[in-house]
Parts: sequence; C-alpha cells; structure tokens
Amino acid sequence: KRNTSGFSHSKIILTGEHAVVYGNPAIALPFPLKVEAVIEEVTSGIIVESTFYTGPLEQIPTKLEGIRACIQQVLIALKRPCDKLKITIHSQIPIGKGLGSSAAIAVAIVRGLFSFFETKLDDKTLSAFVHTAEVYAHGSPSGIDMATAMSDTPIWFQNGDIVRLEVTSPLHFVIADSGRIGNTQKSVSRVRALYSNDEVLKADSLRRMKVIAFAAKSAMAKGDIQKLGKLLNENHSELIQIGVSEDGLNHLVNTARSAGALGAKLTGGGDGGCMLALTDSKEKMEEISSTLTSAGAQQTWCFTIEP
Ligand code: MEV
Repeated sequence: KRNTSGFSHSKIILTGEHAVVYGNPAIALPFPLKVEAVIEEVTSGIIVESTFYTGPLEQIPTKLEGIRACIQQVLIALKRPCDKLKITIHSQIPIGKGLGSSAAIAVAIVRGLFSFFETKLDDKTLSAFVHTAEVYAHGSPSGIDMATAMSDTPIWFQNGDIVRLEVTSPLHFVIADSGRIGNTQKSVSRVRALYSNDEVLKADSLRRMKVIAFAAKSAMAKGDIQKLGKLLNENHSELIQIGVSEDGLNHLVNTARSAGALGAKLTGGGDGGCMLALTDSKEKMEEISSTLTSAGAQQTWCFTIEP
C-alpha cells in the first residue's frame, strides 16, 4: 500500500514573544522535537489517527477544528476532496507548552498531503494552509510558530518577513516544562486588554522589547553569549510586567540563574508551558537540566545550536 510522510519540528522563541503580535521583531529557533504525518489510502472517508484524537475527520473535537479546516482546504486545492485517506500523526511535541505543536502538526500534514499527491509545494502555499489552522488555534497568530516550523535555521521574524540568522558560537540551551498547560489564545487576549487600557504602557513595553530583540540579534552575530544571557533575563522581566509569567515559571527561571545559567526566561505564550536557559558549555547544560528537574520541572531537554 502506498504511503508518504510529511515532517516538521517544534520551535523555541528566544526573544520577542507577545510583542511580535504587534509587529515587533522576534527571534525563534527550530527545536528538534519532530512531527511526522503519514498519509495512506483507506477504503472509506478521511480518518485521523493520533494520541490526541482518533476517528473520522468530520468528528474531530472543536479545539482541533483548525486541523480539519486545513486538511479540507488542501484536499479541495489538490482536487481530491472525495479521496479516502488515513492521516496518522506521530508527534514528539507536548501540546500547550509553548513549543509550537499546532503549527508543526499542520506543516507536517500539508507537506504529507502534497507529497502523497506528488504535487510541488512552495513556502507561500504551505504558509497559507498552515495559517488557516493557526487562526483556529490561536485567533490572531503572528505567524512566528509557522515560520519556525518551516525553517532549519534560527530566524528573525517581523510582520511575516523572515530572515535566516547566523550563529557564530555554539548556543547551549536547557528547555524545561513547568508541567502546566498554557493557553496562548488567552494570554494573547489578556495582553491585548492590558495594552488597550494603557497606551503609554503599551508603547514603553513594546519599545523596550524591540531594543532587546535588536541587541539579542547583534549579540548572536558577535557570539557574545554573556550579553545574550542578560538580554534574556531582561526579556523575562518584560514578560512578567505584561502578566504572562506565573510563579512556577519564575521559580524555574530563578533556579536556572542560581545554577549558573547566563540567562533564563519563559518561552512562548506563557501562563505555564516552558522556560529556556542559556549556558556556555555542555557540562553546565547537563547540570542546569538536572537542577531544574529537582526543582520540579516535568521534563527537560538539552540542545545546542552549532555555528
Ligand atoms: C506563541 O508561540 C507566540 C506568541 O507571540 C503568539 C504569536 O506570536 O502568535 C505568544
């Protein structure tokens, strides 16, 4: 039986989450937790199989409606709306932890379907279909999750424009899951309410986070990891000020700093989900990882971006 796969991966926002929704620049990194979508022919209907839902596409739960809309649009575009298919999703990315699972799943599915029907897929077409899924999942997504799920290098992202970033010295990261599920749509709307009540706070907050993003880009280009660490700490303070951090994340961030991280911050939508810590060596990375586990992190990952 014929089958093909589409692939994608998770993402980490280094700096600029939330502000990026307002047109500020942000830096994001591809993070090697993988998603594979396997497409094969079956005898009836369209079936989705995954750890979060297995059954007919039409009965997919409301919170996964974005995936349904995306699959249906792709099949219409490919002139295959009545084909009988099974879409099996294998994902290593925990859901609701700020790691971009929804965008990565959609990217893998769209790639899988195009490859199954042996049709060329350019980035613009892929983005348009994934955007459909993301609008259901997040309301008003900036597009950074999708852009990172499609990129093999760190990116600078602003208003949909993507620039590949060079890294000049190794960046060692520890990612830790607080164990609590965040809801990006809710945290994004809370920030919107806060900003719309106070124009001065909004302008100041966005201006400071823009300065941090530009400085982080330049620190990355120069390989100034100490400076990059300080900027991550500053970015975390800004995120606390707009109310998207919480005690559990702050505890892990402080633990990582005390354990010798050069900088630490929450990553993604916040309200739970993950934090990241930056260090300058593989040994420190392992040490911080086990300290974070002892401090209550549900799961940790170590990863290095090589120049
Ligand atoms: C979510 O990964 C990042 C946010 O900035 C939302 C978005 O950019 O759409 C919180």
